[in-house]
Amino acid sequence: MAPTVPLAVLALVALVAPGLGVAPGCDYPAPRWCSSRDTAVTCKVESRCPNLPHPAAAPVQLSLYYESLCPACRDFLVMKLFPTWLLLPEEMLNITLVPYGNAQERNISGKLDFECQHGPEECLGNMMEACLMNEAKNFSTYFPVIFCLESGSSVTKNLEACLQIYAPEVDSGRISACVQGDTGVALMHHNAQVTDALDPPHQYVPWITVNGKHTDELQAQAEASLLGLVCQLYQGEKPEACGGSKAPKLPSGCRR
Ligand SMILES: *[C@@H]1O[C@H](CO)[C@@H](O)[C@H](O)[C@H]1NC(C)=O
Ligand SMILES: *[C@@H]1O[C@H](CO)[C@@H](O)[C@H](O)[C@H]1NC(C)=O
Ligand SMILES: *[C@@H]1O[C@H](CO)[C@@H](O)[C@H](O)[C@H]1NC(C)=O
Repeated sequence: MAPTVPLAVLALVALVAPGLGVAPGCDYPAPRWCSSRDTAVTCKVESRCPNLPHPAAAPVQLSLYYESLCPACRDFLVMKLFPTWLLLPEEMLNITLVPYGNAQERNISGKLDFECQHGPEECLGNMMEACLMNEAKNFSTYFPVIFCLESGSSVTKNLEACLQIYAPEVDSGRISACVQGDTGVALMHHNAQVTDALDPPHQYVPWITVNGKHTDELQAQAEASLLGLVCQLYQGEKPEACGGSKAPKLPSGCRR
């Protein structure tokens, strides 16, 4: 019952000496100070209000540095990242995809050229995915398309088909124009810079950062049980997919 005492005292202060000790902008009668989070914040009594709804927790930030044709990257994206994303509420996991990986960028008299670990087709796949992300904007629009590309027999030949199934509103012509034009090069240059700025530098792909950090342990946990890792790190109320022990709520009056 600890919270009721200071509130009662504050209420008394408010009644006896209006304005004294009451936060500016708090134009509410004391019994209403805990009626909502906004009110409690305005009246500076949040810590004394036990039953306020929790503020939304920040999503867990996961960044995946990968290459479109690297088998281990495809496996992680298709078998782990995508299913985890499907299972968890959107506000819990924020994913950034950076296709580039171990590619090399060269500036040949002002013209940027890319060399990829698995050859020119991989460079094309990286650029197609970067262009798709740039065109579709919305993660929930482009991630299923990238999943479709990465899970198929060819990463680079199924764009039309994957778009038709997962994002028919996205214009494949615009993606082709991006891939063949300066936009694709600029996007790839951006990915090169972001990848080269990693600290510690990446040593292999897929390279995973969680909340901006990479450690061997986080990488191992993400690969072994991504769902478990995200559930463990998320500070908000855990959803059912996390497998918490959500006991069914009984009306308290019926307990014995
Ligand atoms: C997700 O991450 C991106 C990149 O870090 C950021 O711009 C965006 O605001 C984040 N979204 C949410 C909901 O936190
Ligand atoms: C490439 O090199 C040229 C000089 O040859 C320079 O002007 C240009 O800024 C460089 N471009 C990038 C993206 O680094
Ligand atoms: C992204 O797409 C999802 C699903 O179609 C939708 O719920 C969400 O509002 C969209 N977000 C934005 C920023 O357009």
